[in-house]
Amino acid sequence: MHPSPARPIIIDTDPGQDDAVAILLALASPELQVLGITTVAGNVPLALTTRNACILLELANRRDIPVHAGAIRPLVRPLVTAEHVHGKTGLDGPDLPEPTLAPAPEDAVAFIIRSLREQPPGSVTLCPLGPLTNIALALVRAPDIAPRIREIVLMGGGCFEGGNITPAAEFNIYVDPHAAEVVFRSGVPITMMPLDVTHQVLSTPARIAAIRAAGNRSGEVVAQMLEFFERFDVAKYQSDGGPLHDPCVIAYLLQPEIFQGRQVNIEIETRSELTMGMTVVDWWGVSGRPANARFMRQVDADAFFALLRERLARLP
Ligand code: BDR
Ligand code: CA
Repeated sequence: MHPSPARPIIIDTDPGQDDAVAILLALASPELQVLGITTVAGNVPLALTTRNACILLELANRRDIPVHAGAIRPLVRPLVTAEHVHGKTGLDGPDLPEPTLAPAPEDAVAFIIRSLREQPPGSVTLCPLGPLTNIALALVRAPDIAPRIREIVLMGGGCFEGGNITPAAEFNIYVDPHAAEVVFRSGVPITMMPLDVTHQVLSTPARIAAIRAAGNRSGEVVAQMLEFFERFDVAKYQSDGGPLHDPCVIAYLLQPEIFQGRQVNIEIETRSELTMGMTVVDWWGVSGRPANARFMRQVDADAFFALLRERLARLP
């Protein structure tokens, strides 16, 4: 039997320690073909998210994958960043060398559009791990790409779990709610990993120790990043570890059966300052509005960490 061909993906990201783990998980997984990494302003400003993406490709020894820098700010609102969570560089924790890899000249939005036009229709999955600015810009600039996207699997939003940057909103959607509105109204199939799921995958000391025990440099770097990253959420939620938000997107592509959710209607709040960026999830189907996304609500955390540990151990 021949193995099935690798699934082509574009990772759109604002690294961020949890973005970093998601990127490394993808790079370690032969089922996925990372066509490129596109960067956006989010956790830290664009220059740093772009630098961080280059650092991660060098760590994984994958200089063959291009990095394309994208939007420097959200569509309408001023940029809000999260150094209080991720540190000044976005990847605080380990001592990482400045990258020698440089981003490609083509910008992120042009790269996304070109890739979707060049690859067979229905083949490319977009994996947004940050604010949705680049994805919205691509959909607005080139509406012909929408039916060519296989699926958008994104980290963002929340429902029963509330918000993490405001009482109502999750960070990625809050930073660019107008972009999120464009994406959720695009008609492209969407699978969403909200806080409801990501708060179930906590980087406990035992799980970090298991990643470190592989003895490779990538495992050590991830362990140090997670030890830095978790301090904020451990203090905030009095939990055992930090939530590994963004790796849920990649884990879903590899093992969808460990997640459970429902097709529902989701609208984005863009008008009220109080609830700006809230994902209004019609879990009980009371609105009569058509479903536009698969909202995930459960994950098997032990299966998730078993996958993560096994895959990270394959890296340099
Ligand atoms: C999301 O916000 C960022 O801080 C993380 O990288 C993740 O994408 C969680 O709300
Ligand atoms: Ca992120």
